[in-house]
Amino acid sequence: MRYPWWRLLLFCSIASVPCYWLYLAAVAALGPDPGKVLVDNLGQGALVLLLCSLAMTPLRSLTGWSGWIVFRRQVGLWAFGYAVLHLVAYLYFLLGFEFGDFAAELVERPYIALGVIALVGLSALALTSTQWSMRKLGKRWKKLHRIVYPALIVVLLHMLWVVRSDVGQWSLYATLAAILLAARLPAVKRALGRLNARRRS
Ligand code: HEM
Repeated sequence: MRYPWWRLLLFCSIASVPCYWLYLAAVAALGPDPGKVLVDNLGQGALVLLLCSLAMTPLRSLTGWSGWIVFRRQVGLWAFGYAVLHLVAYLYFLLGFEFGDFAAELVERPYIALGVIALVGLSALALTSTQWSMRKLGKRWKKLHRIVYPALIVVLLHMLWVVRSDVGQWSLYATLAAILLAARLPAVKRALGRLNARRRS
């Protein structure tokens, strides 16, 4: 396994953030509605990690360092982990585990349905992220993992629906997402490769 200590450090860093938020909630430092803050923080954390995982491939093209790819899977799995915690926090803090209310919310609030769609997409990616799945699915693995692009767009719509008029932070995420999606275009990929070659020579 390459870079085991860096992987461990990354694992501990990402895992410690929700623990810190829980601690802040426990000491009443998250304001009058800590449950809502936890749900929002975990949702934004999931989105940030998703963007980070999508940044790894363009960073490899730009820098030529293959190490980025070593961390891509871990960061992608953490995006899924945060999204699951976001769902659990929502069910617990906002719905009090009333699953009947969840069914009603799905109908009344379309953004909840968008969240579910995005989470189903991320679940498919997480479940097939193993070496075994890669071998078993062969060429189909790459195709399947392209789900991440529509999933990212659905997450952005989900967030936009929540924040509505206050789109400052959303615009930042949407711009980063647009850059990362554009970096997948063949012409941009070639340009990144050329930049890397020029930097090396
Ligand atoms: C079953 C799936 C999901 C459910 C039920 C759900 C539910 C929610 C709810 C209720 C809110 C608004 C909380 C409030 O009132 O402020 C929210 C916000 C948000 N969610 Fe989700 N969500 C789901 C999936 C996801 C996924 C997969 C992501 C990202 C990968 C995500 C990212 C966000 C973001 C970024 C926000 C905005 C947070 C903010 O306003 O700061 N959600 N979600």
